Amino acid sequence: MTRLILALVLSLCAGLLPAQEFTTLKGHGGPVMGLAVAPDGTVASASFDNSVGLWTGQGPRWLEGHDAAVVTVNYSQAPLLLSGGDDFRVLAWHPDRAGPLEVTRHLGKVASIAVDPSDGRIASAGWDGFVQVSRRDVGDGFVSETLRGHRSNVTDIGFGPDGALYSTSSDGTLRVWTRDGAGWSNRVIVKHGFGINELVVTRDWIAYGAVDGGTRVISPKGDEIADFTLDRRPILAMAHHAGTGQLAVGDGHGYIMMIDTASWRITRDFRAARRGPVWALAFSPDGQTILAGGLDDVVYAWPVALLDRFDPAIDGQRSFLRDPATMENGERQFMRKCSICHALTPGPSRKAGPSLYGLFGRPAGSVDGYSYSPVLDGSDIVWTQDSIDALFHDGPDVFIPGSKMPMQVIAEPGDRADLIGFLARATQEE
Ligand code: HEC
Repeated sequence: MTRLILALVLSLCAGLLPAQEFTTLKGHGGPVMGLAVAPDGTVASASFDNSVGLWTGQGPRWLEGHDAAVVTVNYSQAPLLLSGGDDFRVLAWHPDRAGPLEVTRHLGKVASIAVDPSDGRIASAGWDGFVQVSRRDVGDGFVSETLRGHRSNVTDIGFGPDGALYSTSSDGTLRVWTRDGAGWSNRVIVKHGFGINELVVTRDWIAYGAVDGGTRVISPKGDEIADFTLDRRPILAMAHHAGTGQLAVGDGHGYIMMIDTASWRITRDFRAARRGPVWALAFSPDGQTILAGGLDDVVYAWPVALLDRFDPAIDGQRSFLRDPATMENGERQFMRKCSICHALTPGPSRKAGPSLYGLFGRPAGSVDGYSYSPVLDGSDIVWTQDSIDALFHDGPDVFIPGSKMPMQVIAEPGDRADLIGFLARATQEE
């Protein structure tokens, strides 16, 4: 509540305040889908209104050139700005030129653009399922190569320090691409199951965020470093500031979670958009301000120091605001693997699966008003420690074949036991 009031008070004062205060950049005629900041502090915003806004402190300058919504911008070759959009094109804008140059064209929306710091190659992620890698040719031309391998939309892209290229996709994979004599080949380093939306690549770690709320950090080899997955989804935006070691994660609920990458702890967590999701995030050059875009036709600039510090004790009642490190394993298992589809409270819920309230001793398929698949409706299974253990030892596809519950196995006996222990307490009827 304090935070809401703070946000309101600040937004009422917006425009009157100096740079280190909360500000909004107003002018776009549609939602803001992408953000990038140049080293000199210029903010570029990509909008549904087909334009890119350039904000320098004076009024915005509009870059008009896309024929449809602009969804992504990248300033890593500043002052050159790259933009991509729903017109399937990647455009390059230079302040010394009147109009943009076309870098490449996809067969679907361009979701993200990355630049290889070592040689300036431009990679773009397309909803056509392809990655394109483009480089400057003679004159104003560019040449592009197409990388095929993903089975669905490519959603984000990033270069590693050694020129390796990483990509994420709605096909649920994170891949790494390398080039040898014969061309490009790729290797799957994460099979997440649900579509992956967001990617941040650094020398030491890779972070990704997914449709189901999966928020994970892995080593370049694929080993897990940290997991921030909670009951918030989908993850729609990520930004990293190397100098201050901050990773920002924006989601479908309009929240931004700030993570300290030195300790891998959540430091702040706040509602950043007045309504709807956070689609775009970027840090100011000094890392003191986090910029956010979403459904409101404005860019919010939040001074990080003004935001509430994350305090699990205060936010305990709102599960998705809690640091998973403070939960015991059984609850963490539930939050990560079940809470997206199951409530623990009595009565109807809008989740995909039936409420688990009163689960133990209950015959399968018996929650009133929930429409089960035929295999559970009238089944003679009774839910007990043993049957729930078997359900996730074998997987629902084996234990109750034909069920609507998606395939999943919890391999570790200890994780199953902790989950069942948590469920036994949390689903108890009063
Ligand atoms: C993506 C959604 C989803 C996830 C994740 C999920 N479930 Fe389910 N679950 C369902 C659906 C849908 C059903 C109903 C299945 C049917 O009717 O065939 C169900 C049914 C069940 C049932 C039977 C309930 C009853 O009333 O008979 C149990 C028990 C259960 N789930 C436990 C879990 C646990 C524990 C987890 C986490 C480890 C989990 N589920 C994860 C969707 C999910």
